[in-house]
Amino acid sequence: MELIESIKGRKSIRRFKQTPVPDEDIKKILEAGRWAPSANNTQPWSFLVIKDKLVLKQMAEAVRSMVDKMIPYAESEKQSQRLAAYKGNYYTFFERAPVVIAVFMEGYDAGTDKLLARMGYPAEDIRRLRPVPGLQSVAAAVQNMLLAIHALGYGSCWMTGPLVAQEAFEKLLGYGKERSIAALLPVGVPDEDPPSRSRKELAEMTRVIG
Ligand SMILES: Cc1cc2nc3c(=O)[nH]c(=O)nc-3n(C[C@H](O)[C@H](O)[C@H](O)COP(=O)(O)O)c2cc1C
Repeated sequence: MELIESIKGRKSIRRFKQTPVPDEDIKKILEAGRWAPSANNTQPWSFLVIKDKLVLKQMAEAVRSMVDKMIPYAESEKQSQRLAAYKGNYYTFFERAPVVIAVFMEGYDAGTDKLLARMGYPAEDIRRLRPVPGLQSVAAAVQNMLLAIHALGYGSCWMTGPLVAQEAFEKLLGYGKERSIAALLPVGVPDEDPPSRSRKELAEMTRVIG
């Protein structure tokens, strides 16, 4: 598949067939993540492949339970309805995929940020001046994997919604505060063919100097 065509042809898939994804294909997807660029070549990511249906169900349960706790704090009826809908599908459909890849962001030692702090820059300014290189690196790995998943004929969706239950995931999956899941990628043979979502016009997002 040609790369540009692949980039434009990828779309989020939220319904999957139960056909298993062979290990050699999972390995190809992880390899695509491994080859992503990263700040200082730190490769601040790691991957957890979850195929256990019970674990996936427990994760989705944890998300539903957290959303239930969040709903009373909604600012409006509209927001609480949206949260209830998210609980039903947008945050939890990963439990119906044959495999889910959890992409972890490992601790990233941002030497430059520390230096700016020593120079007296407030944390808020450092965040604006140096937008999270560790997280940008992980995002590159995620997009590489999404493209590999698409090129191999599977579907996926970049999911951060379920991370409202990150604390429960820490206990369930056994990891500590030195890392966190940046995204979940459910993987499977698509069981839907939704229309591609529109994009803003290039002119709206581009400025040329010179
Ligand atoms: C950082 C990030 C987080 C996302 N989280 C979710 C999510 O939790 N659940 C979901 O169904 N889609 C999620 N999406 C998918 C977006 O809704 C989707 O990418 C966007 O609407 C564009 O559609 P497309 O992926 O089909 O092109 C997320 C996408 C990104 C980049």
